[in-house]
Amino acid sequence: MNWLNEGEPEDRLLQQELLSGGELPKHIAIIMDGNGRWAKQRRMPRIEGHRSGVGSVKDIVKACGQLGVSYLTLYAFSTENWKRPKTEVTLLMDLLLYYLKTELKELNENNVRLNAIGQLNALPKNVARQLHESIDYLSDNTGLTLTLALSYSGRWDILRAVQTLALDVRRGTLSPEDITEEKFRSYLNTHDIPDPDLMIRTSGEMRLSNFLLWEMAYAEIYIAPVFWPEFRREQLYEGLWNYLGRERRFGKISEQLLDETGCER
Ligand code: IPE
Ligand code: IPE
Ligand code: MG
Repeated sequence: MNWLNEGEPEDRLLQQELLSGGELPKHIAIIMDGNGRWAKQRRMPRIEGHRSGVGSVKDIVKACGQLGVSYLTLYAFSTENWKRPKTEVTLLMDLLLYYLKTELKELNENNVRLNAIGQLNALPKNVARQLHESIDYLSDNTGLTLTLALSYSGRWDILRAVQTLALDVRRGTLSPEDITEEKFRSYLNTHDIPDPDLMIRTSGEMRLSNFLLWEMAYAEIYIAPVFWPEFRREQLYEGLWNYLGRERRFGKISEQLLDETGCER
């Protein structure tokens, strides 16, 4: 099923408006939060929230593909999430496995490349195997790069990078004076994807929870008031309009930015 040939006419119109509204983020990173509270509100077990959250993942991936977004990174499981009750962790891993198996064909038909960041060897064997198989299968695709953050935390990645870098210094293949920002980022799990332009967190929570700490230095942050299972393309569009209305100054002042773009003051 090709995503570009489907969609309601009203939705296509909304996408057209967004696309002509300005430069959309090249990389969107999302903290998918609030599945448990969504379920609790409905007197259902937490896992029902996670299950419904998969529906949001599918819709957001598809909408990003249709809009031509280059990179989408989803925080699916943090290093700290291993501390949750075992039953919830097991069910989350099962859901991940289910997603990887059932979506593979559609992702491939839509030119999506899959990537994963995090301590992947901590995942159950069957999940890790399916993940690597899926990544391989989709590796020649050139459209949206979908990165799943799994058993991931920003501090874990920074520490791991520092350790590898220190080993290189000890081996003599790297000298301390050559450790620039660019050099350092080449040691991170995210070395081959650009920094996020927009970070979205759902459920109204205003914290980073150890997500992409180095990479988010200049990300625009959008907090969506809804729980993740309720975050579908309409809510994404709202976040994108909000992003388009911002001025990204990167430490400079407005007038300098106008000069750079050649606009009159
Ligand atoms: C996000 O929803 C999913 C994961 C962290 C895996 P939560 O499970 O954190 O839901 P809340 O925040 O408890 O409502
Ligand atoms: C962040 O959500 C991790 C993921 C979305 C995978 P959490 O629900 O684990 O974060 P905290 O504990 O509320 O900060
Ligand atoms: Mg949460």
